[in-house]
Amino acid sequence: MFNSAWNMICDEHRSLAAVVRGLRHLVEECRHGSTIPDFQLLRAIVFYLDEFPQKLHHPKEDAYLFARLMERTRTADALIAELRQQHASGNRFVEALHATLAAFEANEAKGLDAFSVAVDRFADDILRHMALEENALLPLASRHLTGEDWVEIGAAFGENGDPRFVADADQAYADLFRRLVNLASPTATDAAGTGKKRRVRPDESRPSPGGPAAD
Ligand SMILES: [Fe+2]
Repeated sequence: MFNSAWNMICDEHRSLAAVVRGLRHLVEECRHGSTIPDFQLLRAIVFYLDEFPQKLHHPKEDAYLFARLMERTRTADALIAELRQQHASGNRFVEALHATLAAFEANEAKGLDAFSVAVDRFADDILRHMALEENALLPLASRHLTGEDWVEIGAAFGENGDPRFVADADQAYADLFRRLVNLASPTATDAAGTGKKRRVRPDESRPSPGGPAAD
């Protein structure tokens, strides 16, 4: 169960990292003028990066992984305090994403630089945070948590886990994630014939799995 719980936490990190990489890639394409900004897609990505960590992933870590580890040892207290502080302070980077994306959409010519900076700050923060959890916290957890602890943590992160954090949201976020990872889908020349490319959105090439409304 230890491996299973560990893998589920790291899988969620990989999902977040994949969406962050996709967002950075889109911004790069916008900066080079090779893609017309797809604001529906950008809003869906920012929605996911706001909701999934703050409402699902971080709360489960706080309530299960961090809480059980603090019961088993005091050696992780400072690290857990730092990680909890990062969970809380991550909000300001998300708020900057929302604000700069709205400004970008209102004025494409002037808004891209600020949105790009906000994306880089958010990405650097969350990637550094997840690396600290994987490289420092999880090894401590592997030494101090019991088999029963890992069963409980695995159940919380698995399907049908703690209904306070999961319920229907878990499947909805998973569905939205699948739509977002389709960022690598083929591009098509835009209908206006400007020569620039636009991405083919997942809902253009296959039925939408239906997730949280992105707008
Ligand atoms: Fe995490």
